[in-house]
Amino acid sequence: MNKIIVKSEEEGGIVAGDILLDLIKSTSKPVLGLATGSTPISTYKYLIKKSNDESIDWSNVTTFNLDEYIGLGPEHKKSYRYFMNEELFNHININKDNTFVPDGHTKTNEEASKYDDLISSKGGIDLQVLGIGTNGHIGFNEPGTSFDSVTSIVDLTSETIEANARFFDNKNDVPKKAISMGLKSIMNARKIVLLAFGKQKAEAIKNLFNLKPSLDWPCTILNNHNDVTVIVDEDAASLL
Ligand code: GLP
Repeated sequence: MNKIIVKSEEEGGIVAGDILLDLIKSTSKPVLGLATGSTPISTYKYLIKKSNDESIDWSNVTTFNLDEYIGLGPEHKKSYRYFMNEELFNHININKDNTFVPDGHTKTNEEASKYDDLISSKGGIDLQVLGIGTNGHIGFNEPGTSFDSVTSIVDLTSETIEANARFFDNKNDVPKKAISMGLKSIMNARKIVLLAFGKQKAEAIKNLFNLKPSLDWPCTILNNHNDVTVIVDEDAASLL
C-alpha cells in the first residue's frame, strides 16, 4: 500500500482530488466509487473549485456510492443521497442519472445485490474513494463481515451508531441498518484511495498497516489489493 502523510485535511483533499481529476481527464467514461461522512468533504470541496475554475467536464462520469441508511429516502436530509447532492453533485456538471446511491428502501439482500450487477454493467469501478470507521469498517462493513460479501443489508454496531450520532439531532434517530457495498464489491475496484484524518482514526490506520487480513478489522482486506493509496494526516498516522 502506498502511504501519503499530509499536514491537513485540506491538503489531503487536494491530493485525493488530483488523483480523481487525473482519472477523469484521462478516461473516456470514468466510473468513480464515492464515499460519504466527514472525511471526503475536503476532497469534494477541492473538486468543485477545480471543476468550476477549469471547466472540467463531468458529463461522461458515472458514480457509485458505497452505502445508504435503511429507511432514509433521497429526500431525507440525513440520507447519503442528499449528502452527495449537496456536497458534490449539485455543484458540477454531472448528469444525475449517472450517479448511483444504494436505495435506502431496499427490502431484501437479493434486491441489494443487484447494485453489484449495475456496477458490472457500467464496466466496474475505476477508482474507489474510501473513508474508514474507528472500528476499521469500510463502507458499512462492520467487524466480522465476510471478505466475500457483496452489496447487502447490514446491521450497524453501537460504536458506529455512536460515531455517526453527530450527524443527527438525536442518537436515537441514527438508523440501525444500512445497505452497503460488500468487501468483495469494494475490492473489485481497479484502484482504491483511502482517506483518514484525526486521532480517532489512528488505531484503525495502525491495524490497516500492521495486521494481516483479519475479519476483526475489515479494512485489513485492502492488503490483498494491488493498488491502494492511503492518505492520512499526522494524527491518523500517529501510531504508525
Ligand atoms: C461512515 C460511512 C463510511 C465512512 C466512515 C467514516 O459510517 N459509512 O463510509 O467512511 O463511517 O466516517 P467519517 O468520515 O465521518 O469519519
